Amino acid sequence: MTQNLLQADDLFIRRGDQTILDGVSVTISRNSSTLIQGLSGSGKTTLFNVLGLLNPPSAGTLIIDDIDVSESSERTRARIRRETVGFVFQDFRLIDDLTARENAAVPQEHRGERDEAWLDTLFEALAITDLADQYPATLSGGEKQRVAIARALANKPDIIFADEPTGQLDPRTATQVLDLLFGLRDQMEMALVVISHDRDLARRFDRVLLLNDGELNEQPPVSDDVPAERSSAEPEHPLTLQ
Ligand SMILES: Nc1ncnc2c1ncn2[C@@H]1O[C@H](COP(=O)(O)OP(=O)(O)O)[C@@H](O)[C@H]1O
Ligand SMILES: [Mg+2]
Repeated sequence: MTQNLLQADDLFIRRGDQTILDGVSVTISRNSSTLIQGLSGSGKTTLFNVLGLLNPPSAGTLIIDDIDVSESSERTRARIRRETVGFVFQDFRLIDDLTARENAAVPQEHRGERDEAWLDTLFEALAITDLADQYPATLSGGEKQRVAIARALANKPDIIFADEPTGQLDPRTATQVLDLLFGLRDQMEMALVVISHDRDLARRFDRVLLLNDGELNEQPPVSDDVPAERSSAEPEHPLTLQ
């Protein structure tokens, strides 16, 4: 088992004459945390879908768990996706006519192995045990997000992709959700990859990557030294993220 869980080399995504990903290379190691930032429309969700095996790239190599999935059949990709990857979608994507617990169990059902004890553990860790039998329509945004996180972790993935996991939450709930994701990451030693526009989050992550013009580049680490006074000539944020 190598330390690298995921290695992407020179990924391209083209749609018509548009190039969304223009040679993206990235390595994600076990038990790490990565924040991906970029302007709206820069291709962050597209990148997640490729790294998480939901969509194949137009070109490039993707190796997950030492398996070159760019060469694999859709059947193999689906199996690796189920076993290795957990997704927290920006819009939750819960199924309306399933209860919270049934929603969280969906990845286990796909795999054909229901693990009730692990679902109990997740629901307790996420403080949603009392909501297990409720339907999504009766849950708040923060509660839905926690059910979505339980579902993402249902198969004990090695890597979790969370697309704007706090985008629809009030600041207090957003902090709670982030705390939960980091707490679960520590316990499960998984890789956590988060898309967020919130620059204040950056210092919590091992590293920050910026997607811009189809290219993904590492950003300098966030300094803990807060300057006493910021020069007025210096723009507060070089890029306006949203
Ligand atoms: N299914 C699709 N078909 C065609 N174009 C798409 C599709 N999804 C996204 N796009 C386009 O790809 C670009 C990147 O989108 P996206 O990955 O959603 O960006 P982000 O998540 O950074 O906001 C945008 O120009 C968007 O309009
Ligand atoms: Mg997006």
